[in-house]
Amino acid sequence: MTEKRSSFTGKIGFVLAAAGSAVGLGNIWRFPYLAAKYGGGIFLLVYLILAVTFGFALMCAEIAIGRKTGQSAINAFKTLDKRFGFLGVVAAIIPAIILPYYSVIGGWVSKYLFAFVSGDAAASAADSYFTDFISKPFEPIGWFLIFIGLTALVVLFGVEKGIEKVSKVMMPVLVVLTIGIAVYSVTIDGAMEGVKYYLMPDFSRFSATTVLAAMGQLFYSMSLAMGIMITYGSYMKKEVSIEKSVHQIEIFDTGIAFLAGLMIIPAVFAFSGGDEAALGKGPSLMFITLPKVFNSMPAGTVIGVVFFLLVLFAALTSSISLMETVVSIVRDKLGWGRKTACILVFVFCIMLGIPSSLGFGVWDFITVAGLSILDMFDFVSNSVLMPIVAFLTCIFIGYVIKPKAIIEEIEIGAPFKAKTLFTVIIKYVAPVCIILILISSILDVLGIAKI
Ligand code: TRP
Repeated sequence: MTEKRSSFTGKIGFVLAAAGSAVGLGNIWRFPYLAAKYGGGIFLLVYLILAVTFGFALMCAEIAIGRKTGQSAINAFKTLDKRFGFLGVVAAIIPAIILPYYSVIGGWVSKYLFAFVSGDAAASAADSYFTDFISKPFEPIGWFLIFIGLTALVVLFGVEKGIEKVSKVMMPVLVVLTIGIAVYSVTIDGAMEGVKYYLMPDFSRFSATTVLAAMGQLFYSMSLAMGIMITYGSYMKKEVSIEKSVHQIEIFDTGIAFLAGLMIIPAVFAFSGGDEAALGKGPSLMFITLPKVFNSMPAGTVIGVVFFLLVLFAALTSSISLMETVVSIVRDKLGWGRKTACILVFVFCIMLGIPSSLGFGVWDFITVAGLSILDMFDFVSNSVLMPIVAFLTCIFIGYVIKPKAIIEEIEIGAPFKAKTLFTVIIKYVAPVCIILILISSILDVLGIAKI
């Protein structure tokens, strides 16, 4: 590499950029619906434990690998050990699977923003509004195309910096607004039951599937186990403390996810009159619940407009960064120009995104183990590929390059306080747990056995 790698300016630059990639639909759309579905408090508890142990160790490791090698994932593993080059490739496939369906959800957000702007706010609070919308053949695809088109334009013209600037202003506003809506939500009549469900773990709901769902969500939300943090690490300056940065990113990302849950789950209880079935709505939960919240609150339409606009921005910064990743892999591997690579990725996304969208309507008869097409892509990336990449990363660090290599890299910037914890997790706890969870939950999904 002849060209000097540009680096983030200072500490806060790194944390903001990494947090910008981390915070997105994963926090606001995905976390609440999983928490609702997998037992509320127990999911939250498992998630938090995983975040401070496993998520922490893996994020430190990925950033350190990136900073040590100065390369993105696909080459970083190869540089450290020839035999592990394939791991970079597997990791690189994940963003390509996520991007198309991420953009379908991004399209839903755009549709809701439009509905609120155009005075349809009250109508969108009706029970059947969302289902009617996603089961239409063309309209959701139209919104998906707008979203992915916008993403592609930004990537094509390389104007991410502009978007990033705007989102740096919007992100704090999103946090404040989420807090405000969460406070309102928990005070709605009947919401207290939901607050209890969300905050008090019910240990009888604990299962391997809960842990796998929480783990997949952790990877997804923090953009782990797919090479992203390795790339970010490669731009990080040596004097910045990796450990501290990881703490900050985790607090920020988990904080927003927690608040999003508080905004949505109690409201589900309030509006469903305690009907448990309402909790299992899956990907549609946010879209069904929030319009009802906005509809019941003073100035709800205006708040709804601002909220969906902010979520759209958070989603766009994530989709742009996802597409950037995929485009740069295509460019590196095939040696193509930016424009050709962009077009290829765009077409690929359309090919996977359209079936994902149709899977809620005319193609709803296509299911794999009960999962719709979109859920299936989500399951394959989050619950299968990411745990595999995470497992192999642990083996790679624990037994091939050895934890010491990572610890030394981290200690260049500052003393690594949690290094014993780090070593134990990477070498023993994480690999054993991932394998057990993966096997048992695959059996579970296939309906063969349940533990
Ligand atoms: N973490 C993002 C979110 O919570 C989603 C995501 C996964 C992502 N992988 C990524 C974003 C890679 C940017 C780059 O929504």
